[in-house]
Amino acid sequence: MSLLLGVNIDHVATLRQARYALNPDAPIVEPSILEAARESEAGGADSITIHVREDRRHMQAEDAFLLKREIDLPINLEMANTPEMFTLAVELQPAFVCIVPESREEVTTEGGLDVLKQSATLKTRIPVLQNLGIKVSLFIDPDPKQIAAAGELGVEMIELHTGAFALAEGESRLKELARLQAGADQGQALGLQINAGHGIHHENLQDIFSIKHLSELNIGHTLIARAMFVGLRQSVKEMRDAMAAYQGGEG
Ligand code: PXP
Repeated sequence: MSLLLGVNIDHVATLRQARYALNPDAPIVEPSILEAARESEAGGADSITIHVREDRRHMQAEDAFLLKREIDLPINLEMANTPEMFTLAVELQPAFVCIVPESREEVTTEGGLDVLKQSATLKTRIPVLQNLGIKVSLFIDPDPKQIAAAGELGVEMIELHTGAFALAEGESRLKELARLQAGADQGQALGLQINAGHGIHHENLQDIFSIKHLSELNIGHTLIARAMFVGLRQSVKEMRDAMAAYQGGEG
């Protein structure tokens, strides 16, 4: 099966908010979130990822409902494990929810969601989402304890946090890559779908390809950055084409 691409378009909203956060009803509000999603789809995106943050620094709840109404691609809603975001997910009913950390208390030392610390609330919220047909993912470090805890919660997917790998160099980069592989192996053995994301770009994609069992990459920053020069459709297409080389970690 080919490696799927979830395109994170949060930064399109970041740009919009830079000008229009205080004037959302201005006669012209740009860039358009809807156009970004449509261009991503035209470039080959398999899903559209948006993160409605508690501080609403980029995506707004209205963006999420607009996309749900207007586009055919599955929506992956990234959200914090809070009552407010849980209510939003229940109302929106996206195809996927990825629970991510936002505040410091929710984060492990490396930056993924601290599933162990939050297991009590996750245990009550996750089944409600799943009963609505929403597939649930947890954005976690490649840490054996976190992955085991994710397995116990009965989620369908985990998204391995590739941020530490993306920042590392030399020996520690190899170490991070090995941790990602071990995490993917462990998750696969638990029957979880393995996704990965954060800090992935064309330069580190080959290393990512060495990881077995990957189903989906969630990529944002580099796609939007490149879109400034070649357009979003082309930017997504280039990434989608590059990802076709994934051989399940055997290449
Ligand atoms: N996955 C998750 C859970 C994220 O929160 C983000 C955005 O930080 C990404 C993937 C995409 O990361 P990037 O913008 O570095 O490609």
